[in-house]
Amino acid sequence: MAKLCIIFMLCSLVIFTAAVQSAAGLEKGPEAVEKWFKKLPQAKEKVTKLHFYFHDTITGKNSSSFTVAQSNITLTSPTFFGIVSVADDPLTIGPESDSKIVGRAQGVYLAASLEDIALTMTLNFVFTDGKYNGSTLSVLGHNPILHKYREMPIVGGSGVFRLARGIATAQTVWYNRISNNAVVEYTVMVLHY
Ligand SMILES: *[C@@H]1O[C@H](CO)[C@@H](O)[C@H](O)[C@H]1NC(C)=O
Ligand SMILES: *[C@@H]1O[C@H](CO)[C@@H](O)[C@H](O)[C@H]1NC(C)=O
Ligand SMILES: *[C@@H]1O[C@H](CO)[C@@H](O)[C@H](O)[C@H]1NC(C)=O
Repeated sequence: MAKLCIIFMLCSLVIFTAAVQSAAGLEKGPEAVEKWFKKLPQAKEKVTKLHFYFHDTITGKNSSSFTVAQSNITLTSPTFFGIVSVADDPLTIGPESDSKIVGRAQGVYLAASLEDIALTMTLNFVFTDGKYNGSTLSVLGHNPILHKYREMPIVGGSGVFRLARGIATAQTVWYNRISNNAVVEYTVMVLHY
């Protein structure tokens, strides 16, 4: 009886530890990553959909995007060619400015087209809430901001999004021509394990 009880306690402990690990994301560190890679042949790829709003505030109280450089033709270029901005923009569940924050879009975007108004985006979506807290997705894409839909590749990820690939579709909800502030809806379809 005592033996059974100990076995039962050990099993519960193992099950409990496993549950805590999945809730906290994944085990970290080089050995945990190696173990994760070794289990890959048995892992099943899954599809996850994410939906959030990206608040790009350039002017005003809650500014989170700043110009760090420009070319000597930026001011005369109809496409703002050469302007480079660094952003740490909040990602929220709704389009309102006081909506709950679920992550940040951190990185650089730049006007890289001489002919059209189009940005090159190099951003990490850094999630800070719920089951994706601490996980990231990396975006590297072409963003012609005046188009209704812009598709940008998800080129990788970390945490629960290790080895992710996918597509982020951006759609402007709101844009102010004077302040240049914008709210952009993002729908992300991602394949990961
Ligand atoms: C921009 O800089 C380049 C290289 O210094 C120069 O050749 C060019 O004339 C400049 N253009 C303008 C519009 O100032
Ligand atoms: C600034 O952020 C706060 C807190 O998220 C929000 O309540 C407020 O509406 C924002 N202000 C502006 C001008 O967007
Ligand atoms: C996200 O994770 C960080 C670090 O592990 C923790 O401090 C924070 O409380 C978590 N946030 C939420 C909303 O779960």
